[in-house]
Amino acid sequence: MPSERSHRPAKVRLRHLQEAKEAGRTFSMLTSYDALSAQVFEEAGIDVLLVGDSAGTTVLGYDSTVHTTHQDMLTFTGAVSRAVRRPLVVADLAFGTYQVDAAEAVRHGVELLRAGAEAVKLEGGAARADTVRALVDAGIPVMGHLGFTPQSVNALSGHRVQGRDHAAADSLAEDAQALQEAGAFAVVLELVPSEVAGRITEFLEIPTIGIGAGPDCDGQVLVWQDMAGLSGFEGRFVRRFADLRGELLRAASDYRTAVESREYPTAEHSFE
Ligand code: KIV
Repeated sequence: MPSERSHRPAKVRLRHLQEAKEAGRTFSMLTSYDALSAQVFEEAGIDVLLVGDSAGTTVLGYDSTVHTTHQDMLTFTGAVSRAVRRPLVVADLAFGTYQVDAAEAVRHGVELLRAGAEAVKLEGGAARADTVRALVDAGIPVMGHLGFTPQSVNALSGHRVQGRDHAAADSLAEDAQALQEAGAFAVVLELVPSEVAGRITEFLEIPTIGIGAGPDCDGQVLVWQDMAGLSGFEGRFVRRFADLRGELLRAASDYRTAVESREYPTAEHSFE
């Protein structure tokens, strides 16, 4: 029987995710882009922090992750990695930083690791296998990302569930197999029917991490502002575990009222 200590390692490493899969224990991943949220998520025991390129939409106000730059990713990765010790920190390779050739992917991967990431994530399957191999050969652990791949939102004609018909499901499975063979240590499955994600999770040796991919994946991930009810996003796959938007709105309104009525600050908040 594994000890409590081995379930909750002082530092989450790649092998702990693999061990979790093998022991049938589900693990948690959340996005994080700043020091304060990263500290809260570490305290909550979240295993993996993903410095996602979703920072472009959630923090920077773009309408898709296509606009998130490598420099953005370096800044957010530094903020998160400086703030935490225990979670595994994974950073997204931004759109355009790994598609041209493997050498460019390695150069950008090295910079993300130097900024504090412990692994990188990239989107795509068999077509990216050589790139994944080059990164892994350079000592850069790689998480794959299949299904709905947000950087391809234009090519995929919007946010749509992927792998619904037999041919598409088979092709997803082949992509997952190709990523595993290329050396990826885990694969995110986004907007994939539960049954397909379950099947891929069963035959893959490496862990799958689902977002809108049902309950059978080895881990689960959400964008933190969706999880905590800050973004107002209402996707079917999201459960809101808090109403941060409502709470922040209440706090900001109360602050404004207190300032306008001179009820704040009082002597207690002032210096002699
Ligand atoms: O950037 C991101 O937030 C992601 C998740 C949706 C997995 O890639």
